[in-house]
Amino acid sequence: MLMYEVRPILYATMQGRDEGMQAPALNAIHACDCIAGMKRMADGSVDIIVTSPPYNIGKEYATHNDRMPREQYLAWMGDVAGEARRVLKDDGSFFLNIGGKPSDPWIPFDVMQEFRNRFALQNVIHWIKSIAIQKADVGRYEGMCGDIAVGHYQPVNSQRYLSQCHEHIFHFTKSGDVQLDKTGIGVPYQDKSNIGRWKKATVDLRDRGNVWFIPYSTIRSSRPHPTTFPVKLPEMCIRLHGFSGSTVVLDPFMGIGSTACAARRLGISFIGFEIDAGYRAIAEEQLKMADPGI
Ligand SMILES: C[S@@+](CC[C@H](N)C(=O)[O-])C[C@H]1O[C@@H](n2cnc3c(N)ncnc32)[C@H](O)[C@@H]1O
Repeated sequence: MLMYEVRPILYATMQGRDEGMQAPALNAIHACDCIAGMKRMADGSVDIIVTSPPYNIGKEYATHNDRMPREQYLAWMGDVAGEARRVLKDDGSFFLNIGGKPSDPWIPFDVMQEFRNRFALQNVIHWIKSIAIQKADVGRYEGMCGDIAVGHYQPVNSQRYLSQCHEHIFHFTKSGDVQLDKTGIGVPYQDKSNIGRWKKATVDLRDRGNVWFIPYSTIRSSRPHPTTFPVKLPEMCIRLHGFSGSTVVLDPFMGIGSTACAARRLGISFIGFEIDAGYRAIAEEQLKMADPGI
């Protein structure tokens, strides 16, 4: 178990549930199944959940079997959703990143249906990994000298399917009306004359919208984990929900610690679960390098 600061979560509402079991410590990635781990947490004890579960598309994880029968996989996702709902605060946000594969694009939508009885779907965000933009389509923007193609994706070897350049981030809440800090991830107005013209446009930051371009960084060596997201993804989710010094973020499928690194960068607390010892060890190294407090 990887540990920075140990602050046990209070068992305020846990009478009758798993009595005698210790709550998972904050700022630690725990070596256990996420459902078992969440069962040890108090009701309403986390502000934000950001996670990317296995997609059941046959990825070669070190420990997890990513080739489960579909029914079993979806039932498992439903169980994860149920336990996550319990540990999430009433005004919390659950950001679920999930993709499919070219020959099985229903996966994200099937998983979303498992969440549907338990959560309101407040926003659907599109995580763009790569995009091609033609200069002719954007008009006369300064700085755009020609056609561009930016970001990375795994090219698909098929004449039937397009390469997967994006994934979903489903933003679930309990009520559907959680207030967000949209300017927390806002972008400057392209046309500055909008500032002051509209009542709400008092500063040079506008709603970014639900299309987020977050490229993977270029690395020369092989990737240490088959399915990570960039640290910027959980960071943007946390910023969008809004955070303070007491915010706690949970990632039930922590992998090599991207959500933990985002939390550390923002100076908030995290809890993670990860069944694979090798990934936890890499997470520990990444966390040592993550800059606290930007
Ligand atoms: C899609 S990856 C998450 C990667 C992570 N977002 C990152 O950037 O490193 C899913 C992770 O869930 C882990 N996992 C699979 N089953 C699990 C379970 N029952 N409980 C906790 N972790 C599990 C896998 O080992 C894998 O590392």
